[in-house]
Amino acid sequence: PTRTFFIGGNFKSNLNKDSLKELVPVIAKHQTAADVVIAPPALYLLEAQSIVEANNSKVKVAAQNISGKSLGAYTGEIAAEHVLDAGIEWTLLGHSERRSIYCESDEVVAAKTVDALQKGLSVILCCGETEHQRFVENRTKEVVTGQLGAVHKALEAANLVDKWSKIVIAYEPVWAIGTGKTASTQQAQDTHLEIRNWLTTISQSVADATRILYGGSVSAANSDELAKQADIDGFLVGGASLSAQKFLPIIDSAK
Ligand code: G3H
Repeated sequence: PTRTFFIGGNFKSNLNKDSLKELVPVIAKHQTAADVVIAPPALYLLEAQSIVEANNSKVKVAAQNISGKSLGAYTGEIAAEHVLDAGIEWTLLGHSERRSIYCESDEVVAAKTVDALQKGLSVILCCGETEHQRFVENRTKEVVTGQLGAVHKALEAANLVDKWSKIVIAYEPVWAIGTGKTASTQQAQDTHLEIRNWLTTISQSVADATRILYGGSVSAANSDELAKQADIDGFLVGGASLSAQKFLPIIDSAK
């Protein structure tokens, strides 16, 4: 199966106007066969989108989250409609920081995914276990397939199972995010394979076509090795996406 390598840069709540205006054009101009999607803070989505457009770049922009509601009385939230109106095609959903700090349950993430797909956004859907769940409870597979399973159940209920083609999965072990601790190449590959096997329960074609990204302290030092693994189809990069010097070599590890 051919799965185009995919590199996401999640800026989280970082950068400012000036540093964003410096960084985004460099990423936009970088030549690669990989799909590259950057997720700036919400206030800079329009700016980032206009930079990639001005550069005729194939880099895409993603929101880091959406409300999961339509337009209306949802103070402080960003609707999928607004993201699409800005010309933006992607959103991240279910990042572990959304789950843990902002209390988004599997069901909330699933409902947001349905909303995003119904309205026409593509989704980078994040999943991943905590340190306790992996190392103490030995429940990684159960946790991750539970998170993805909640999404699948909601897609079934909404008659949107064919929309798996618009989802990229990002597997991010919570204990490896921003900690400098990367899952070993083997740990990552093993979990990616478990996710791929779980996807076969939807269909073989979904399992073959869906890109599964690894996220968690990805750097130029580990990206080549990780990229070689059969079931690692790209990365979701946090910290290292904030500097061109760190991010471009990771993009270049695309296989
Ligand atoms: O979304 C990105 C991940 O949370 C990874 O962050 O590369 O800073 O560990 P990190």
